[in-house]
Amino acid sequence: MQNPKIIAIYGSPRRRGNTATLLKKAIEGARDSGADVEEIVLRDLKISPCLEIYGCLQAGECAIKDDFQMVRDKIMRAQGLILASPVFFYTVSAHTKILMDRFQSLWVKKYWIDKTPRNQPTAMRKALLISVGATKGKKLFDGILLSMRYFFDTIDMELWKPLLYRGLDFEGDVLKFPDYLEEAYEAGREYVKVLKNHDVTTLG
Ligand SMILES: Cc1cc2nc3c(=O)[nH]c(=O)nc-3n(C[C@H](O)[C@H](O)[C@H](O)COP(=O)(O)O)c2cc1C
Repeated sequence: MQNPKIIAIYGSPRRRGNTATLLKKAIEGARDSGADVEEIVLRDLKISPCLEIYGCLQAGECAIKDDFQMVRDKIMRAQGLILASPVFFYTVSAHTKILMDRFQSLWVKKYWIDKTPRNQPTAMRKALLISVGATKGKKLFDGILLSMRYFFDTIDMELWKPLLYRGLDFEGDVLKFPDYLEEAYEAGREYVKVLKNHDVTTLG
């Protein structure tokens, strides 16, 4: 694969927050390695929560028409995804969760309509996850990691690398940790190398 296309999702409501700053660094690294990165800021979009009406039972297509379809198509056509969300009450931000829930339509298609066997080994695309929380507990990211496992599976991805940082609360806190920023940059660079060596046909 020459120049992989990567979708970068800003999941925090804070435009210049800690996850956004780390994500920008990862994007910089990915671009420096030759990736074509498209940035999506969830707080700028109109995406309804899942209304659980199961219009998707017909053909796996969500019945609510809004910005979800645009984001879905971009994610499903890309070779890579970098998703950044802060920890809010031990899970992802509301913006991120609303997007994830709308992908239930793809889960329905994959497992109910197409009857894909569970745990069927497939050529998975790989995702990079960035998350931060204010506290320092051992279980701080347990909720997010579990949610991501099933979310990534739904979109035919698996977690390649989690970048998880504790003890970051106020906007700008991450700037006090240049090593975190460097790690995010390097992860972006490394991610593209991995994608280039892992050519998976996308669904788009
Ligand atoms: C609604 C809300 C819920 C939060 N819940 C948690 C939490 O459960 N655990 C934690 O350590 N920090 C929690 N935080 C703190 C954020 O994770 C922290 O401020 C983080 O740096 C925000 O990232 P951002 O700057 O990318 O938005 C919460 C903050 C908000 C606004």
